Order: sequence, then structure tokens, then C-alpha cells
Amino acid sequence: MIVGAQWGDEGKGKIVDLLAQESDVVCRYQGGPNAGHTIIVEGETFKIRQVPSGIISGKTCVIGAGCVVDPEVLLSELDELTGRGLDASVVLVSGNAHLIMPWHVAIDQASERRLGELQIGTTRRGIGPAYADKALRIGIRVQDVLEAKILRQKIEVALAEKNVWLERVYEVEPFDLEEIAARYEGYAQRLRPYVGDTSLLVERALRDGRDVLFEGAQAALLDLDHGTYPFVTSSSTIAANAAAGVGIGPNRIERVIGVAKAYVTRVGAGPFPTEIEGGDHERVRELGAEYGTVTGRERRCGWLDLVALRYAVRINGITSLALTKLDVLSAFAEIPVCVRYRLRDGTETEDFPAHQSDFHAAEPIYKLLPGWEEPLDGELPGKARGYVRFVEESLEVEVSLVGTGAERERVVALR
Ligand code: IMP
Repeated sequence: MIVGAQWGDEGKGKIVDLLAQESDVVCRYQGGPNAGHTIIVEGETFKIRQVPSGIISGKTCVIGAGCVVDPEVLLSELDELTGRGLDASVVLVSGNAHLIMPWHVAIDQASERRLGELQIGTTRRGIGPAYADKALRIGIRVQDVLEAKILRQKIEVALAEKNVWLERVYEVEPFDLEEIAARYEGYAQRLRPYVGDTSLLVERALRDGRDVLFEGAQAALLDLDHGTYPFVTSSSTIAANAAAGVGIGPNRIERVIGVAKAYVTRVGAGPFPTEIEGGDHERVRELGAEYGTVTGRERRCGWLDLVALRYAVRINGITSLALTKLDVLSAFAEIPVCVRYRLRDGTETEDFPAHQSDFHAAEPIYKLLPGWEEPLDGELPGKARGYVRFVEESLEVEVSLVGTGAERERVVALR
């Protein structure tokens, strides 16, 4: 099980890609095309949003019931990957996953515009509205594409309501039933071969002693229940939800690898205690190429936050960490690491504040660690090892992998 341990973009794709090579099945269990994974193999860059990263290694790829699927994105991604010589027939999508429909995207965009300064900064891919309809029990599921009559009927029912919202509340153009029905009929035909019972497939694989890898999207602090609400995504991103999102028992998950950058980034709005001010911000962003895979947006950059990371370890049950992009810090003579927060009442804590206002007002207390100021290739220099050891000792979790560059092979296995 691989989860993001910060606010996303920790380089999970790269770690999943690495471990996928030794796995038989790779599953996504939540989220949709809001995820953006960049994987570089032999100089070739793959950017994927909806399909599990395991497709790059030709592994069986599951999109579980807990996901939301935009058929337009999924099919175009499969077309692109097929065009580049990969086998799309390895993909199986749960019939219970929910579809992101065009009105979800339109509502996501319109509602963000309407919120103005209060906006969440979503990826505008329709994620929140699709999960909202799922919870309201008016969603359209992947299995609905298997029966043309049901699909059309559901589109008709949904549009009767959504068009009123779009026109009257958000003052944008409504959708035309015939156009949408025809378009989705087309997608339905193409999606059909990919739809199946993913829970059963995973259960059988486990029973046969195969290795199954779960690929979390987004991250701990974007979790709907435990993240920095409302600046979160609309699904449960934490490790426990992998079981629920795929449809297996929680006791089947053996190991949880948390992926954290050696610093922190965040896209979208919301509190961010260790956000860097001044010239170093630009430096980290440029060195780390911190621009969104899905949206191209500039990412906000901060120093490593051990208070937030300790929380991620707790809520995910992380058994080891992969620390990525350590090479970005090679440029700094001294590296601040946040070890505690000072709260409004002057007290200091190593534990993530339970109350949102305490977190909003939290002041980071830094320890300055010595930089190594040399490129990282091959074995880690002593001070880089010291940085990693400091993380391990502070969190009482081992760091098993360290990322030192974008390519697949730029990973140092410490254990
Ligand atoms: P949504 O998931 O599009 O609704 O966006 C909600 C919040 O999650 C926003 O702050 C997004 O920037 C953030 N978010 C969603 N997906 C990702 C991701 O893959 N990486 C980083 N942030 C993400």
C-alpha cells in the first residue's frame, strides 16, 4: 500500500512504478483524474491521471469501486498509452465506481468561480460534485454503461435537475440531453470491455499468493475526514480506505509505505505552516520543477514539516517511508526542518493540532540541519544520510527508499 504523506505530489507515481515491477496487480481505490502521476522510464515521460501507474509495467490495473471515473479522460489516456505501445487490456474498472459526468466538471468550475477568494483551488475535474452525487444516491455508475436504456434514463433524470442548477444558480449554459446521451452511448461501447468485478479479481489474486499493490492518490492532509478540511479532496485518501475502496478486508493490507518529499509542496488554497518566504521559495520550486501535472499550476513550497508527517504516519499506519526529491535540497547550505508547532497560547507541540484554528495559527519551530551541497548520485553523502536519519529518529519510522532524481533508477534503497 502506497500513500501520499503530505498534500500530494510527493512522487508516488515513481515509487509505485518501482514497486509495480515486482507486483502482479496495481489498484487505485479512490479519487479520479485529479491525480497526476509523472513517470519517467528510459527518457520517456508518461503523465497519467486516471489509470493506475502499473500500466507502465504491463501489470493488471484495477480501478476500484471507491474511484470516480471520467470516461472521456480514461479513454483518451488508454488511447494515448496504446499509441505508445502499452497494453490497455490489463485495465479493469469496477462497475460500482461512479462516473464523472460533464455537469460535475461544469459545477466544479462554476462553484469555484463563485467562491472567489474562498475557493478551495480544486483541480476542476468534477471530483467533488461526482462524490456528492454518489453520497446523495443519484450518481451514475460505471455499470450503468452496460445497458443503454438505463444509461439514457439516468442521464435524463440527472440533467433535469442539473440544468436548473447550472442555469439558475451558476448562470452557465445547460447541457443538451440528446448530445450528451449520444456521446456517452459512444463511450459506453468503448468502456464495456474494461468493466468487471474488481473486488473478486483482487481477492483471487491474494488467495493465489500474488502481490497486490495499492496506489493511493492525493494524500493524508487532503483526506476528506482527517485532512485540512475544507481544503481537501472529496474522498478518503488514507490507507484504511484501500480495503474499502477495492472491496477486500482491512486485514489483507500488510505494509503501508508513506511517500513524502524531503520538503513539502501544496497546490490550491489552505493553511501551510512551513511555506517558504522569499528567494528560497522560488529556488525550491525551480529546482524541484514544482508545477502541477494535471493543472500546470505553480505549487507552493515549504520546508519539511515533521509535525504534519508524524500525523500522516499515525492516520495511515505507515510502516516505512519513501523520502523523495532529496536532490532538490542539495542546493542549500542549511536546511530548516520543522520539529514542533508553537500554538496561539504559546504552548509547543509535536502533534498535529486537532482544532483547525490552532493549525491555521501554528508557527513552525525549525531545527537547522547541515546541507551536503553536492549532487546525489550513488551512495548518499554523510550529511544527506544525517538528514534522513533525523527524519527516522524523529518519527520512529524507517526510511526505506530515498529519491534522488526524476528517472526510475534514481532511487536509493536504504533497506
Ligand atoms: P479536487 O480533488 O479537485 O476536488 O481538489 C481538492 C484539493 O485537493 C485541491 O486543493 C487540489 O489542489 C488538491 N488535489 C487534488 N488532487 C491532487 C493531487 O493529485 N496532487 C496535489 N493536490 C491535489
